Amino acid sequence: MSKSYNIALIPGDGTGPEVLQEGVKVIEAAASKNGFSFNFTKYDLGGERYKKTGEILPDSVVGEFKKFDAMFLGAIGHPEVKPGILEKGILLRLRFELDQYINLRPVKLYPNVETPLKDKKPSDIDMVIVRENTEGLYTGAGGFLKKDTPQEVAVQESINTRFGVERCTRYAFELTKKRAKNNKLTLCGKTNVLTYASDLWQRTFNDVAKEYPSIKGDYANVDAICMWFIKNPEWFDVVVTDNLFGDIITDLAAMIQGGMGVAAGGNVNPDKGGVSMFEPMGGSAPKYTGQNVINPIAAINAGTLLLENIGESKAAKDVDNAVIKALESGKIKSMSAGKMGLSTTQAGDLIASLV
Ligand code: IPM
Ligand code: MN
Repeated sequence: MSKSYNIALIPGDGTGPEVLQEGVKVIEAAASKNGFSFNFTKYDLGGERYKKTGEILPDSVVGEFKKFDAMFLGAIGHPEVKPGILEKGILLRLRFELDQYINLRPVKLYPNVETPLKDKKPSDIDMVIVRENTEGLYTGAGGFLKKDTPQEVAVQESINTRFGVERCTRYAFELTKKRAKNNKLTLCGKTNVLTYASDLWQRTFNDVAKEYPSIKGDYANVDAICMWFIKNPEWFDVVVTDNLFGDIITDLAAMIQGGMGVAAGGNVNPDKGGVSMFEPMGGSAPKYTGQNVINPIAAINAGTLLLENIGESKAAKDVDNAVIKALESGKIKSMSAGKMGLSTTQAGDLIASLV
């Protein structure tokens, strides 16, 4: 019998279900071409369920997710739900409880995709950002003192453990080696000011680097990285950084690769038995919901990451090549919603037909 993978689908809110459907269509095409199959199980998490039932993420569901081979997410976020509730209650909780300690963000400029950077071509923009995904300023450590008084104090602490930093750094070195592109790994920090947190990162990085003599270790401050991503993106191969710096530089990087229509990411638990979740970066885009105009390429690219993660590298390559061929065909006019010249489903059909 051919191999079958169990995948949890979380279509979520807004345009999430529309783009996820195309992502599923394309990975199914890759599976049938490569002789394996998927069993999908749908979970209706998100703003709609929260509004109807008050439920955000039942404990039992987190337990169920652990049994899947991977998770595939559309988007979470609802205009009528106060910011923070779904983000903390679903996305961050899943990252923490499933120990998805890597946030993986490939940044690649595809052919015929417009970048706002003048004179930069696909060969100039091709890097991967590895963001630590369970520590730093995201743990919720801190608190208020004398809240709602003129003397109020707010403390928000960045938690960085040697264990957490080391496993993330090691993952980044392994990835740099596997990519075999420029064999260069850049640590992004702020050692000139964060003399504890960034210092731990730098010492850990230097120690792990000794195990990878073929990889060139590099360092840049986060503010400088923001300049260089714009001016010299070709300098970067793999970048490793903490949770908040990573959050910020990955959005910047998404823009130079052509925006939210193409940017995909993964919340990865690379350990044995770990389950990872893949998603387009674009969010729920409420104003385009139900119009069949949103670009599904980001969700399809998330599918590529999912295939790679479950060990189906050939199928992953097939999907990536199909995206390239579809873009080279010139049939997709723009990455922006409503301007593609094709509907969401037509773009998905085109890419699936090229797998
Ligand atoms: C991301 C998002 C999340 C983050 C939000 C939605 C909590 O911006 O995945 O980058 O800050 O990590
Ligand atoms: Mn973000």
